[in-house]
Amino acid sequence: MSPSSFRLFPEQASTLAGSVDHLYFFLVGVAAFFSLLIFALIFFFAIRHRRRSEAERPQPVHGGLVLEVVWTVIPLGLVMVMFGWGAVVYLDGARPPGDAMQVYVVGKQWMWKLQHMEGQREINELHIPVGRAVRLTMTSEDVIHSFYVPAFRMKYDVLPGRYTTAWFKPTKTGKYHLFCAEYCGTRHSGMIGWVYVMEPAEYEAWLGGGGTGGSLASNGEKLFQELACTNCHRTGERGRCPDLMNLFGSTVKLADGGTVKADEAYLRESILYPNAKVVAGYQPIMPTFQGLVTEEGLLQLIEYVKSLKEKSATETMPARRN
Ligand code: CUA
Repeated sequence: MSPSSFRLFPEQASTLAGSVDHLYFFLVGVAAFFSLLIFALIFFFAIRHRRRSEAERPQPVHGGLVLEVVWTVIPLGLVMVMFGWGAVVYLDGARPPGDAMQVYVVGKQWMWKLQHMEGQREINELHIPVGRAVRLTMTSEDVIHSFYVPAFRMKYDVLPGRYTTAWFKPTKTGKYHLFCAEYCGTRHSGMIGWVYVMEPAEYEAWLGGGGTGGSLASNGEKLFQELACTNCHRTGERGRCPDLMNLFGSTVKLADGGTVKADEAYLRESILYPNAKVVAGYQPIMPTFQGLVTEEGLLQLIEYVKSLKEKSATETMPARRN
């Protein structure tokens, strides 16, 4: 690294970067202040109370209530500030805004595979427009990885068999490092890439360039037919298996009397482990698709199910009970 490119802190390139840094500086400041104070006091007392003659005997010290209260209340106040402030920053980072654009991430030894809703696929590169919130839904094909973009102050573990959600909103165009931040095998250090933040017009041009082979949802629909899901799941009518129309986001009644919210994790589980949660009124006849669908295929299927919404669903059902 040349001296001119050396920087103590990565660039701040997302809406969260500033608040994460402020909290970090506060923590470092408090830690540095007390470390210095304690070291200074150790030296000061060591000299001041040094033994001055062989015959000198120390006087026993009895506690002081005021002192005890002071050194309990001050640290308590400080850690409560840290907790409250940290919780606010954490919750900000954990809750994607409703208008965020969706990008899917699949980690594997040793690369990042990314898919846009419009169908574009990328490897170790992510192109996004500036000023627009991006929500990442991430999973892994093998071991635990961690999606880390220092300039966005964003780092989330990517776990096999599970969807992790993260988001960020880039504030500056440019090219930013993407790292894997969880040791994942021999070539962990090579599992790196770039995030390109572009002007919206530039991004539109990038999206338009290069054949995409259809959107995620349309690829999901193709897969749905190839896997013969349509034999049982008949859209818009009651077949041998539940109707998937308007399923996503709804609350599903299960055969065991419980309920479950139809989110990404539920759909994934239902495809891979169909008997884990059987819908009330249906037989557990669905075969597993484990090993038949890749992680990317699962994401496409989920996106297809999400797209199965009657346009007027929200208007015709104003009084939904759930
Ligand atoms: Cu993937 Cu380290």
